[in-house]
Amino acid sequence: MLKKKLLFGLILLIFVSFRSVAVEGMWLPSLIEKNIEEMQMLGLELEALDLYNEDGTSLKDAIVRFGRGCTGAFISPDGLLVTNHHCGYGVIQSHSSVENDYLTEGFWAASRDEELPNPGLTITLLVRMENVTARVLETIDPNMDERERNRAVREISRTIADEAKEDGRYEAMVNPFYYGNEYYLFVYNIYRDVRLVGAPPSSIGKFGGDVDNWMWPRHSGDFALFRVYADEENNPAEYSNDNVPFIPDHFFPVSNRGPEKHDFTMVYGFPGSTQRYLTSDAVKYIVESENPMGIDIRTRVLQIYEQEMAKSDEVRIQYASKHAGVSNAWKRWMGENRGLHRLDAVNVKKELEREFDQWAQSGSMETELYRGLMQAFEQYYTEYLPNRFAMRLYFEAGRRIEIVRFAEQFAQLVTLSSEKNPDQEKIDVEIEKLKRSAESFFRNYNSDIDRRIMAEMIRQYMKYAGEMVPPVINDLQSKYDENIEPFVERVFKRSSLVSEEQVMELLENYRPRHYRRIERDHAFQFARELRSFVFGEIMPAQQKYDSKLDSLYRLYTAGLRVMKSDYNFFPDANGTLRISYGRVEGSYPRDAVQFLPFTTGDGILEKAAQNEVEDYRISERLETMLENRRYGSFANHDDLVVNFIASNHTTGGNSGSPVIDGQGNFIGINFDRSWESTMSDIMFDPEQCRNIAVNSQYILWVISQYAGMDYLLDEMNIVLE
Ligand code: ARG
Ligand code: GLU
Repeated sequence: MLKKKLLFGLILLIFVSFRSVAVEGMWLPSLIEKNIEEMQMLGLELEALDLYNEDGTSLKDAIVRFGRGCTGAFISPDGLLVTNHHCGYGVIQSHSSVENDYLTEGFWAASRDEELPNPGLTITLLVRMENVTARVLETIDPNMDERERNRAVREISRTIADEAKEDGRYEAMVNPFYYGNEYYLFVYNIYRDVRLVGAPPSSIGKFGGDVDNWMWPRHSGDFALFRVYADEENNPAEYSNDNVPFIPDHFFPVSNRGPEKHDFTMVYGFPGSTQRYLTSDAVKYIVESENPMGIDIRTRVLQIYEQEMAKSDEVRIQYASKHAGVSNAWKRWMGENRGLHRLDAVNVKKELEREFDQWAQSGSMETELYRGLMQAFEQYYTEYLPNRFAMRLYFEAGRRIEIVRFAEQFAQLVTLSSEKNPDQEKIDVEIEKLKRSAESFFRNYNSDIDRRIMAEMIRQYMKYAGEMVPPVINDLQSKYDENIEPFVERVFKRSSLVSEEQVMELLENYRPRHYRRIERDHAFQFARELRSFVFGEIMPAQQKYDSKLDSLYRLYTAGLRVMKSDYNFFPDANGTLRISYGRVEGSYPRDAVQFLPFTTGDGILEKAAQNEVEDYRISERLETMLENRRYGSFANHDDLVVNFIASNHTTGGNSGSPVIDGQGNFIGINFDRSWESTMSDIMFDPEQCRNIAVNSQYILWVISQYAGMDYLLDEMNIVLE
């Protein structure tokens, strides 16, 4: 045993000094013991229990899920939380208007009284996690079909979660791992009083915008500050003036030491989803069908958004968040395709599948189960993929039309009203819901944009639908072919759902018999016909396919773990808390090109000098400060280090995750991956995959020197050495 360890250490040491040491995987904190030796070899000075400990405090107590899709970290004993600017973007936008444009100007609360509340925004802290595999699997009979199995799993999961909630004190849920080979219970505390403390102007927080998105070198101050509030007992509470700053069990000391090449790093957060085990057929489909369709359609959407946003400031603010969202995946898909090609991913997968198949055929008792699995996958994908494509197309083209999404929401009202004896109480509840939703919908709605989007999306639907074309699209095609504008014009002229006034009027004076008006509405009809195709034809098949998919992959991941029993396979990301680790290091992205791991303030000026690039525009104040190299006490080797890259395996959801050094200090905040890494959800490449972080020193510099908010630094524990 000892010998093996020594050998492992030696090999790693050689590896460390000459090559990239990126480590694939996003690990469950409660099992981090398995990785701790390797982590320590790379420079971690802490023990497994320092990272995760249910019986005492540990780093995990300073990590939160921010909203639904991001992570955040506590950096003061008074509940001060740091996450990404792009994670707070929607919230910052919601406080912004043409007069008070916090997106453009930034926002800083000069004291706690000036912090801005954000109804609906939640902060989720993990209390504990528990392996409940045995208890879940106990209720499953091997003879159950997949539907029965799902039902049984759902039932026992609910029971386990309900017990863990302790009469509503906590939130809890059971998640499957390795496609249902294992199950874990997660118990959470949810905080609902979360206030905006500070956000830099977009020219800092979103510097480089979509031009630089998913790319290195990067110079973005992509951070924002929030504060979590609790009741007097430090327990979660709805927003109230009487609430007090939440006292976290742990908060990160903030490093002002400056990152150095080969420093140990770990990223602790809530990665959303990866697909590490996909078979070759699935990868081929993504590369050849799904991504190209998504890229093509979104290219057109972005073009329309951009043309219209350029026309008015109001529209620019209204569509800022939508634009960022559409463009983000659009660009990632392009990078993903490039990366998968470069890795020859389909053939690499095929090779593994051949190996697996041979192993399965070997005739031992152990491999018996897996015989024929690869053939089953092949057949499965032949049947399933057209359905999957139709589903994706509905989301990309159908639901990109905003009025379609809005009109869909009226379906329930129509159903309730058209019953024989309409239940007025239920109808009233529905009306209230619709009023609220209309209010938020129209705040960021521009019907000129949506009219153009609708025409373009219908054309795309026609182009891509293939065999599985919704009848409504088919009809439009035979009537109008590509010149769909007259139809769209009519929808927008006749529908009362495209104007806030008319919608509110309808809802204010609503009587159950009015449902016919909705039913006759042009936008509603179009939305309903699309939806009835999706729910009538695609969804039912999809559910069947999904459960089949789970059962195939459950067997496959189980088999892989037997076949390669010396390899520690990580469970795909699924929105649960994970740890990734690596170190600060550059890479060689292309022939003759080397990436250094740091960018500096000078680089901001270099980019800003390209006057024609809107996304590189900075304020005069920033320009002057950088030109005069006014770095305060936040320089590293005389430079202001803005961003750095490191070899941690991360994905969407890791935005806002703290990047932590070997001593457990906060050295930066994760916000992106490089272009060469974007395929890492499907296939990881240690030579290329780098996450991108904002240096903690740059965050401190912006807060202190740029914004003059030193009171915020005073509440932090800033580490110099
Ligand atoms: N690519 C990063 C992520 O996936 C940043 C996205 C926000 N930035 C932007 N320019 N759209 O979320
Ligand atoms: N920007 C991503 C997010 O919002 C993180 C980058 C990635 O996907 O790795 O979570």
